[in-house]
Amino acid sequence: MFNIFKISLVLLLVFSIFILNEERALAEAQLTDEESIDRVVAEMSLEEKVSILVGPGMSGESLVGLTDAGVPGAAGNINGVPRFGIPAIVLADGPAGLRINSTREGTEETFYATAFPVATAIASSWNTDLAKEVGDAVGEEIKEYGVDIWLAPALNIHRNPLTGRNFEYYSEDPLISGKMAAAVVNGVEDNGVGTTIKHFVANNQETNRLSVDAIISQRALREIYLRGFEIAVKDAQPWSVMSSYNRLNGSYTSANQELLTKILRDEWGFKGFVMTDWFGGYESLKVIFEEGNSVSDVVAQMQAGNDLLMPGTPNQTQALIDAVKSGKLDEKILDRNLKNILKVVLQTPRFKEYRYSNKPKLKTNAEISRQVATEGMVLLKNKQKVLPLNSDAKIGLFGNGQIETIKGGTGSGDVNTAYTISIAKGLDENFELDQDLLARYATYVSTLRGLKEYQKPPHSFFEQKPQIPEKPLRDNEISAVVEKTDIGVIVIVRNSGEGGDRKNEKGDFLLTDEEQKMIERVSNAYHKVGKQVVVVLNIGGVIEVASWRDKVDGILLSWQPGQEAGYAIADVLSGRANPSGKLATTFPMDYGDVPSAANFPGDDPVDPSKVVYEEGIYVGYRYYDKFDIKPAYEFGYGLSYTSFEYSNLKLNSNIFKDKIRVTVDITNTGKVAGKEVVELYLNAPDNKLDKPIQELKGFAKTKLLQPTETQTISFEIDARTLASFDENKSAWLAEAGKYELRVGASSRDIRKRAFFKLKKDLIVEEVNDLLEPTN
Ligand code: BGC
Repeated sequence: MFNIFKISLVLLLVFSIFILNEERALAEAQLTDEESIDRVVAEMSLEEKVSILVGPGMSGESLVGLTDAGVPGAAGNINGVPRFGIPAIVLADGPAGLRINSTREGTEETFYATAFPVATAIASSWNTDLAKEVGDAVGEEIKEYGVDIWLAPALNIHRNPLTGRNFEYYSEDPLISGKMAAAVVNGVEDNGVGTTIKHFVANNQETNRLSVDAIISQRALREIYLRGFEIAVKDAQPWSVMSSYNRLNGSYTSANQELLTKILRDEWGFKGFVMTDWFGGYESLKVIFEEGNSVSDVVAQMQAGNDLLMPGTPNQTQALIDAVKSGKLDEKILDRNLKNILKVVLQTPRFKEYRYSNKPKLKTNAEISRQVATEGMVLLKNKQKVLPLNSDAKIGLFGNGQIETIKGGTGSGDVNTAYTISIAKGLDENFELDQDLLARYATYVSTLRGLKEYQKPPHSFFEQKPQIPEKPLRDNEISAVVEKTDIGVIVIVRNSGEGGDRKNEKGDFLLTDEEQKMIERVSNAYHKVGKQVVVVLNIGGVIEVASWRDKVDGILLSWQPGQEAGYAIADVLSGRANPSGKLATTFPMDYGDVPSAANFPGDDPVDPSKVVYEEGIYVGYRYYDKFDIKPAYEFGYGLSYTSFEYSNLKLNSNIFKDKIRVTVDITNTGKVAGKEVVELYLNAPDNKLDKPIQELKGFAKTKLLQPTETQTISFEIDARTLASFDENKSAWLAEAGKYELRVGASSRDIRKRAFFKLKKDLIVEEVNDLLEPTN
């Protein structure tokens, strides 16, 4: 027995040495550091190179979320080539947290991640320090769950309120988008894991997202759609960029060399690698799954500088090999792209053989999620100081959303959490809720949700759960609750997600008749006896508010606030947290007022092939201001439980050669501590170029100011800040003339103004004439 054991051991040893020698003989070069990359690439076969440049595909029935290697539920891998010491790299979504499966076969262990507030909510905090903290917390989960690169943050512009993925994006304004994304990238990457800013660029709709051609002027691209990405690249240098699905001015972004090489790398100095979105460059999913022989234009993609094709299909692999062999594609292009990827691989935890714990700090991260959630909430209305509520307030809580509270949107931006604190639970633990009403809602919602018609269709990644109709309310039911309680709180919820845009219809952008009636009847009943009513909006994107807001006393926009939703909402309603969020996206009076309403989602409502961005640079407040259209709630708007005074605005251009420093004092003039978002707008001369009335050029958030406390806030303005994009000159031009700096509490609540002059036109930066629309 012992002998057999000994013999097998010896055989095993000999065999292993043989294998090791084989491997050494095959690959002398090993990936060790940047200097080794050239040697490794030189020694690789064409097939090995292509195996890295094209992802390993996806397995199983689900389109997204299955991967053969690494971490279950991760979105994909970059293949490794073990004989060169190149490990397989794990990529997982984003952006409201880390999206991996929470359970795994063969173990009772769970792998929950923290759901943070959606990006729109984070942006509404206007607090980049907090955004960095979120990044830091997500980065820790990414690292401890064995993921290398996060497929987030996402920073497409809120061009239209109906875009299904707006919740994943920050704002209608590129400065906020860029600064928020940069903060998140820095926070995540401080952990030694990577980020992917996406979707580059102009993925501003879900309808026909795989093929729609976005026709955008050079100026609108430069000033609005590219600007946020430019800021994020320059401020934070993310490891990777994801090109978008759509076409831009005629060609797929993933095959657009001007975009991915000239602008991203040559102009902005991007050093990481570019990957496609999942199946990016394919006309439709149908061509992949039903006509298995189709392939994206891999030659154009590789030449453009789209280094990695994800998730990768066998056809792409074959097409690349054939293209090189037939001389259609220079192998040097593959080498260049491969090197971009390998440089990043060197930095990954996988490469560094980090031993992850699968035990991230979920408790600490939940607290961060709750704090950010409260800071991102926007108090839209507070008549007669209905809020905050006393802790002994007796509340009648209405609306199905108290039970089915929404932490975040659906699709790849979803997060598998251990729990979501419902609004009912959060308020029940903090106030006195009418228990009978609560019980009736709980029973109603669970009964209806149990019915077949209200279940999520199986295997559908993109489809929403059908909305349950609002629980019917009898008159005597309402009056009994009103009698027993001090205040009514009504919850309105909306959800959306990847794969579909929202609609300007009841139940989506508009309230349903049942919701309208609920607001009216509940408000009337409370008002009749001198009591008040507050609405909580648990929504991921803008909805219509003008038709019903006058009926209620208070409106708290909680957005989709992550897994601590109910607790965070209770924090703000109770005044434990003073709301300090402001809108980073406008609420219009009517959908018809939206600048892109006539051009969304394009030349056909269902199957658009083209979408012309006719509004040009006039997106969001730039449009409402210029054309004097009154929004329901303007960009930058948000109330507080205290008040702030702005004083002492000063410009100082002496201390800098090429910059102006702007300082302003903010004083808390109210009775409770609070934070203020301070917004800096610029009105620039328009002798040569048409200009918006004003544009956001800086923002800051004060610390928590105690009553009477003052803080001096400062901003810096450089020449580029003054400039607009001159299409004729292909340059950023700061025009001579008088400039007005406006410091305010919202875009329409300017508190202080200061002026300065520029004597001569200044060409701040010349760029190549790129991305011209072809038609
Ligand atoms: C989404 C991306 C996501 C990717 C991987 C795509 O459908 O558009 O945002 O990162 O899937 O899940």
